Amino acid sequence: MIDLRSDTVTKPTPAMLEAMIQAKVGDDVYGDDETVNAFEFKVAKLFGKEAGLFTSTGSQANQLALRVLVSQGEELLADEKAHVVRAELGAAAVLSGITTRTFSSQDSILDAERAFALAAPDAGPYLVSTRAIAVENTHNFGGGIIQPLDQIEKLHRLASSAGISLHLDGARIWNAHVATNIPLHEYGRFFETISVCFSKGLGAPIGSMLLSTSEKIASARTWRKRFGGGMRQVGLLAAAAEYGVDHHLPRLVTDHVHARILAESIASVDPRLVNLDSVQTNIVGLDLMSISLNASEVAARLKADGILTGPLGPKYLRLVTHGDLSEEEIQIAKERIVTLLQSAR
Ligand SMILES: Cc1ncc(COP(=O)(O)O)c(C=O)c1O
Repeated sequence: MIDLRSDTVTKPTPAMLEAMIQAKVGDDVYGDDETVNAFEFKVAKLFGKEAGLFTSTGSQANQLALRVLVSQGEELLADEKAHVVRAELGAAAVLSGITTRTFSSQDSILDAERAFALAAPDAGPYLVSTRAIAVENTHNFGGGIIQPLDQIEKLHRLASSAGISLHLDGARIWNAHVATNIPLHEYGRFFETISVCFSKGLGAPIGSMLLSTSEKIASARTWRKRFGGGMRQVGLLAAAAEYGVDHHLPRLVTDHVHARILAESIASVDPRLVNLDSVQTNIVGLDLMSISLNASEVAARLKADGILTGPLGPKYLRLVTHGDLSEEEIQIAKERIVTLLQSAR
């Protein structure tokens, strides 16, 4: 099987497993795991932040961020296709009593004024007050697009003048960094909290991190325990994540080249199938409106042909490239996908 469902499907490499075996561990709930402690400090520094908190998942890091930024009965603003809105199963409401309103974005690209237009920083006691705005970079359901830095900067200016915090869902900020050469600490300047994932393009089996001020991380640490996310000798996982940061970051460029190869050959079948402008990193979003098959039918036929893909909407199919795919597998996938799409026109 050639697995294009997600960049989360990668398996640890032998060198990553070796790094795990060599890790010096301790009980992290007691703050004793030196691998975790050093790694949290290291990643925080990369983003110009004071402190980090290793978490089991990106969703947990996002939810801890929202928990420390927004109080019960207050509001988060986010893009309508944001992961925190669509894929965390209402956690902000369920776990933290946060209400969410969404703004729409052309092709999921942040428009600072449009986003900020919804903000109501001091609306109480009759309306809900906005406390935070989330930005996703790269944008998963937006097809891996990179958010423009000038819009981030503008939103930061508008939000801080109103006392509203910005959270970055940076599960794939690594891809944005590699594609643009914008330093990670440059992104760090504009966000009060940042979540990053090691279990996607960087290839770790498990692990994410929340980054912020020491004060906010101390509060998030308490909430992580309360949510059942305190882990013990978790240096084993932090070592894998650190190996991913140290050794796999530059190779994300290859994932981006592979996504481009797939996208261009699909566009050559019918340009309506994929918006090439939005293929900026490792995700290719297919719009199947111009063919008779729906996404689950295309996915089923490709599966029968040895290719796994992600049908994420009736007419939306997602392909994601990652480090466990060889050049040869990308060529095979490209040919089989093109053959199927040509026959379905
Ligand atoms: C943009 C984004 N944020 C957060 C997450 C959540 O990560 P996890 O699956 O580790 O909870 C994902 C997962 O795909 C994601 O794509």
